[in-house]
Amino acid sequence: MSPRPVPPNVLLRREEIAERVAELGEEISAAYAGAEPVLIAILKGSAIFLADLARALHIDARFDFMSISSYSSERATGVVRIVKDLEHDVEGRHVVIVEDIVDTGLTLNYLRKTIGARRPRSLATVTLLDKAARRILPVPVEWRGFEIPDAFVLGYGLDHQGLYRNVRDLLAVPDISALVARPDLYVDELFPAAAGGRAGSS
Ligand code: IMP
Repeated sequence: MSPRPVPPNVLLRREEIAERVAELGEEISAAYAGAEPVLIAILKGSAIFLADLARALHIDARFDFMSISSYSSERATGVVRIVKDLEHDVEGRHVVIVEDIVDTGLTLNYLRKTIGARRPRSLATVTLLDKAARRILPVPVEWRGFEIPDAFVLGYGLDHQGLYRNVRDLLAVPDISALVARPDLYVDELFPAAAGGRAGSS
């Protein structure tokens, strides 16, 4: 039997997240009163944040989705590939990019350039999490839920190897090398009911 892993710490409880998402909903509603913005969620990490944020708005909003990937060799350069593009033309529309986390800023910088080139009426970003200390590229972020320290985080949409997205709190991983060696390290502890009966993957 391998020793029990050091469990991840709860960095943000689900209640704290819900409270902050409600505040962001108020602020964004006020900023776009009468405007019907398009919320562009970046898959897959932002799906849960989008679902909660959209229901915290007092204004109507459209949804669209974009999925991008970066090859690991290109990660540090910010060169990414669009895996799934927007369905609708955003020209002349107020656009809000909905991100789960801004880390180096390379991804958001790319998104702002790509979407900005489609001539939206306005372009802004809301991110749930901001690891500001790790920024390589200064990129505008109009709304942020929480500034967090430089730790690898999981839950509330954020994953490691496709796992842990549906954990309700935000967890900070104490030992990333242990998780890299065994991606499902915390699954049994976080989902005890599923222990032993797991099948499939991301
Ligand atoms: P950036 O281009 O370095 O800003 O990275 C943004 C992307 O990296 C996010 O959209 C996430 O997919 C991923 N990412 C960065 N930090 C974390 C983390 O702590 N947990 C999970 N994913 C992360």
